[in-house]
Amino acid sequence: MDTVLVTGGTGYIGSHTCVELLNNGYHVLVLDNFSNSSFEPIKRVEKITGKKVKFYEGDLRNKELLRKIFKANNINAVIHFAGLKAVGESCAKPLEYYDNNLYGSIALFEIMNEFNTKKIIFSSSATVYGNNPLPYGEEMPYGIISNPYGRTKCMIEQILGDLSKSCSSWHTIILRYFNPIGAHQSGMIGEEPQGIPNNLMPYILKVAVGDFPELKVFGDDYETPDGTCIRDYIHVVDLAKGHIIALKSLLNSNNQGKNSEGINIYNLGTGKGYSVLELIKTFEKVSKIKIKYSITQRRDGDLPICFANVSKIERELGWKAKYNIEAMCEDSWRWIKNNPRGYKNV
Ligand code: WQD
Repeated sequence: MDTVLVTGGTGYIGSHTCVELLNNGYHVLVLDNFSNSSFEPIKRVEKITGKKVKFYEGDLRNKELLRKIFKANNINAVIHFAGLKAVGESCAKPLEYYDNNLYGSIALFEIMNEFNTKKIIFSSSATVYGNNPLPYGEEMPYGIISNPYGRTKCMIEQILGDLSKSCSSWHTIILRYFNPIGAHQSGMIGEEPQGIPNNLMPYILKVAVGDFPELKVFGDDYETPDGTCIRDYIHVVDLAKGHIIALKSLLNSNNQGKNSEGINIYNLGTGKGYSVLELIKTFEKVSKIKIKYSITQRRDGDLPICFANVSKIERELGWKAKYNIEAMCEDSWRWIKNNPRGYKNV
């Protein structure tokens, strides 16, 4: 069975994708520097699947380590998650983001080239659409991006495009995520943000377990039905399964859908949007926990509405998200109920 190197595999999306890879019979290697995680998720992934992960601790920018990994393993494809991802932090520390995300990716691509491993799935983000009209479609040009984090995603996509154009043996699939939430149904793995969560669901969960007294809703004066922002929330297990479908297509070097840059781009979303207040109400309904909140100022950079046109991946790869917003809330709640301190429970 094929061997897949997963960079950033101890992270929220990476760990859920490792579960699906192992369940589909792939040999899984994980490289992670624990900048935003620990080894615990790997132990949980192995427990859930009953299979082993071959783990390497280290940084993408360490080319000697990358060479060691590629020399020791016959890697058929790479799924590249590793990178810093906090929008606000990226505005405060742009150089750290460009060094980690951009240079780390270039180092990875160089070593992949050296070892003639030229099949890659890149974890990108809807943030690259910026101010494009809705629903966001893969054929759209890059939008105006308001932060260094989003700009690194856009630049890495373009580097991969140039690479694929320069050498036809590169096969690249770019997956643009909308808003991943939820957790594996086992309640054993989930999202564990370090410090104060930037994102909505992890903050709701902190309020649910009593770590924070209330949620601040960033503005209710947007041009939306209830005045709060609308987002395309997608279950992280749906997202992980989307990677398996993309990987199968990549390994069959299925060229359909390649754009002029020689790469395949797909949105991973549900195509439906829910507001902040709708998410709060759904979580309260499934958890039977009251989530106290107060309305505060808008957050800089927030767009009123953001959701995906998901027709391309369904048409070309036959993938469609299947979990609804209640399931996303139920599975998030089970994760935090079982792990109120995240992976630090151990
Ligand atoms: C959702 C809504 C907030 C927190 C971000 C990144 C994006 C992607 C997904 C990586 C917004 C509101 C939030 C809170 C709130 N990440 N909110 N109170 O901003 O859509 O996307 O995460 O790829 O790149 O930008 O997600 O969860 O931060 O916010 O009211 O404490 O919840 O204003 O309307 P966002 P989010």
